[in-house]
Amino acid sequence: MGTRVRQTPIVDDVRFRRALARHAAGVVVVTGPGPVGLTATSLTSVSLDPPLVSFCVGRDSTTWPDLRDAESFAVNVLAGDQAAIASRFAGRGVDRFAAPTTWRPGPRDVPILGGTTAHLLCEPYDTVALGDHWLVVGLVVDTGLGSADAPLLYHRGQYGRFSPKLT
Ligand SMILES: Cc1cc2nc3c(=O)[nH]c(=O)nc-3n(C[C@H](O)[C@H](O)[C@H](O)COP(=O)(O)O)c2cc1C
Repeated sequence: MGTRVRQTPIVDDVRFRRALARHAAGVVVVTGPGPVGLTATSLTSVSLDPPLVSFCVGRDSTTWPDLRDAESFAVNVLAGDQAAIASRFAGRGVDRFAAPTTWRPGPRDVPILGGTTAHLLCEPYDTVALGDHWLVVGLVVDTGLGSADAPLLYHRGQYGRFSPKLT
């Protein structure tokens, strides 16, 4: 199915953002050789067979050209105590890989961040231009689990932690 022809007016930017902000999302850092990386909340699982995940990256991203050309990239799933890492990988004009970031070079020089709950090593599978973003689909070729378990969440412009319901 292609892009549908619009029949009705679309929501304005403020209302769109306000509603989306109510969607609590896990926070990841997508990394590639360079090293390069950026914070994203747009991670989605797409397919089990083959194992596919996707994320969206803005067309004005300065990191995207390096990620686009990479043979592999990693999705690093941030832990509840890594809000500072999320901010760092969203900021411009800072060395995102300097302390307090910890990382090691993984396969094909893809940086694997320390202190995360998990990482997914991906190969590029497809890239689709959608609106002002690229939808990037990755084939997951390997995964690793970190020592941390509790995830970092993002909701209404703030970082928070997951609180399991005990009843
Ligand atoms: C919580 C959070 C989530 C973000 N999610 C995304 C995302 O899903 N896609 C995206 O392109 N940028 C996202 N950003 C913005 C990027 O992290 C980054 O700031 C932006 O791409 C500019 O940096 P760049 O030029 O290195 O790409 C997010 C930022 C924050 C703080």
